[in-house]
Amino acid sequence: MKTEDGWIEEIFENEPGYTPLIPEIRAVNYNVAKPKLSTLFSYPERGPYGKNSYMGNCSGLLIRDLLTFFRPKKVSDYMQGGGTCGDVCAELGVPYIGRDLNMGFDLMGDEIGESCDFAFLHPPYWNMKKYYRKQWNNGKPHPADISETGDWGEFLKQMNVCLNKIYQSVRVGGRLAVLVGDIKRRGKLYSMQREMMIPGDLENIAIKLQHNTSSEGKTYGSTNFMEIVHEYLVITLRKDPYKMAVLYSNYKVVDVREHANIQTWRDIVQAAMESLGGEASLEKVYDEIQGHKKCESNNNWQAKIRQTLQRGRDFVNKDRGTWALSWEG
Ligand SMILES: C[S@@+](CC[C@H](N)C(=O)[O-])C[C@H]1O[C@@H](n2cnc3c(N)ncnc32)[C@H](O)[C@@H]1O
Repeated sequence: MKTEDGWIEEIFENEPGYTPLIPEIRAVNYNVAKPKLSTLFSYPERGPYGKNSYMGNCSGLLIRDLLTFFRPKKVSDYMQGGGTCGDVCAELGVPYIGRDLNMGFDLMGDEIGESCDFAFLHPPYWNMKKYYRKQWNNGKPHPADISETGDWGEFLKQMNVCLNKIYQSVRVGGRLAVLVGDIKRRGKLYSMQREMMIPGDLENIAIKLQHNTSSEGKTYGSTNFMEIVHEYLVITLRKDPYKMAVLYSNYKVVDVREHANIQTWRDIVQAAMESLGGEASLEKVYDEIQGHKKCESNNNWQAKIRQTLQRGRDFVNKDRGTWALSWEG
């Protein structure tokens, strides 16, 4: 189908099971001024888009600002939830393809059958809200619902599959915009923004303030808990059909004692003193540090420890041969 602005519509209209949300593809009509955007977004209202009854829905005003700013020819949202993105596209007259597990489309397992030049993705925030079972299936989970994945690492892998798939469908010059949030659980932060793979050339990372969240006003057991009141919008650009920029973060816990170059001698002694409860005899400090990778390249490692204790501003010689970690230095 050829639309008024010359855009050739080539989605697979005759494919079985294909149901466009906007049956009639209209000409793109950005008949609105381009907004001035900063990297801070805040929408206390969500606008007349999508369903505010849909769990974890996002503000259509954000999507509207992004579309009128970037002015894409065709938009996709493969986790469209209550259809917020589709409603914005309908208002602007932008061709849109929207799917979700709730329509029987599994972004991990099913093929994406079309391209776009602006892909919006608002995935589940890990398993904070279990979408399919709560919203659609009377308590029964769907095996492909990524919000059912209990293991954080496994969830990230699934996210990465989804992100890569969508990115590959974006045309050169097009963008992928992902709205994600961080999760705090039992005092630990799980940061989707920090740990998910980011495909494409990073163009913008913006903060979106959260309003009316379910955690708002809750009191938490820990006095060190900072309430999360923002999400991230990560926008990448596809610059090349073949070359793909990709940013991974590699989270692992390392034992610093197995590496010679992570710690200085001062750091090693501090860590040993902390491990020994803040106070120990010189012999105990030797025993604690013996076996550290740094000792392998220093035959005089015990002398080095003595020198470090004597010179370090944080170490005090309490009694003969007993050292302590102090705040006085
Ligand atoms: C945060 S919601 C999206 C909300 C949407 N932006 C809105 O405003 O209504 C995340 C969506 O991901 C969908 N989802 C989870 N796993 C999926 C999968 N494997 N394939 C497609 N959609 C999936 C859920 O059904 C849910 O609708």
